[in-house]
Amino acid sequence: MKEKLEQIKSAVIHEIESMDSLTKLNDVRVAYLGKKGELTAVLKGMKDVSPEERPAVGQLVNETREHIERLLEQTRAKLEAAQRELKLSREVIDVTFPAKKNRVGHRHPNTIALEEVENIFVGMGYEVVEGPEVEYDYYNFEALNIPENHPAKDEQDTFYINDKILLRTQTSPVQVRVMEQGKLPIRMIAPGRVFRSDEVDATHSPSFHQIEGLVIDKNITFADLKGTLAQFAKELFGEDTKVKFRPHHFPFTEPSAEVDVTCFKCGGKGCRFCKGSGWIEILGCGMVHPRVLKMSGIDPEEYSGFAFGMGLERIALLKYEIDDMRLLYENDDRFLSQF
Ligand code: DAH
Repeated sequence: MKEKLEQIKSAVIHEIESMDSLTKLNDVRVAYLGKKGELTAVLKGMKDVSPEERPAVGQLVNETREHIERLLEQTRAKLEAAQRELKLSREVIDVTFPAKKNRVGHRHPNTIALEEVENIFVGMGYEVVEGPEVEYDYYNFEALNIPENHPAKDEQDTFYINDKILLRTQTSPVQVRVMEQGKLPIRMIAPGRVFRSDEVDATHSPSFHQIEGLVIDKNITFADLKGTLAQFAKELFGEDTKVKFRPHHFPFTEPSAEVDVTCFKCGGKGCRFCKGSGWIEILGCGMVHPRVLKMSGIDPEEYSGFAFGMGLERIALLKYEIDDMRLLYENDDRFLSQF
């Protein structure tokens, strides 16, 4: 039995010494010290040993066991250390290496212009509301006093979804939706995307943005409209900006006007920017037509109001002196990051 133990011991030592992985080390533990292991088998054979010899043999078995365990433990520690060393040398971090730059995006000129317009009107007590881009023919045309077969319908080449539903050609339908809710007075602007079946060129796009404005209250007059838009123009284009109202026609306002501002490049003297006229057109406006008020459930005898509508892209192009609308949609970073 003694020989057997010596034999086991030297076999284990030999195996452990040539060990190069932690899993194999565990295999060795199982093979010798496990339930069916060789040393365990020797222990089971103790019953055949004579009682006088038993204590000495028992001690020997224990010593062998302890020796193997110590050896396994030492080797495990050695292998683990080697593994850690290897990992550290592989995963070296070069702290002198330049960091990757985190490129943050940039606000679009449309967004910057819209926020400026919103701030001006919110400062005057207006609410910012939104309406659907896919709209009923009723809201886009009919409720705005543009009946079936009205020539104004031809001016706006429309994307129809079906007979009754279309992509809105203007933000004016939001006026109707707000008036219908019946909460008066109203002081709101409605920015949003609109659609027209136009060819793309430097000043046209089938999808662009408008900002609508609407004020309804008792005793609102054309003077309120003029004062509001004059103040707006000063805040947007500079204190010296003057406004000019030219008579125009819109079906949903009466009287109607188009508004020009003095060219903020030349101050009105005439330059390349304003095509020599000294004036730049920025929006359409007027007093809300009594028929439009009535259709939305507002009594035109008691209430009156004004409305206006402007193109957001036009404002952005003017403010940031961009000469081609297409640049606003290409989203070329080299262009966008200039604003
Ligand atoms: N919706 C008009 C257009 O697209 C712009 C407009 C003109 C809106 C006059 C208005 C307005 O509210 O009163 O050409």
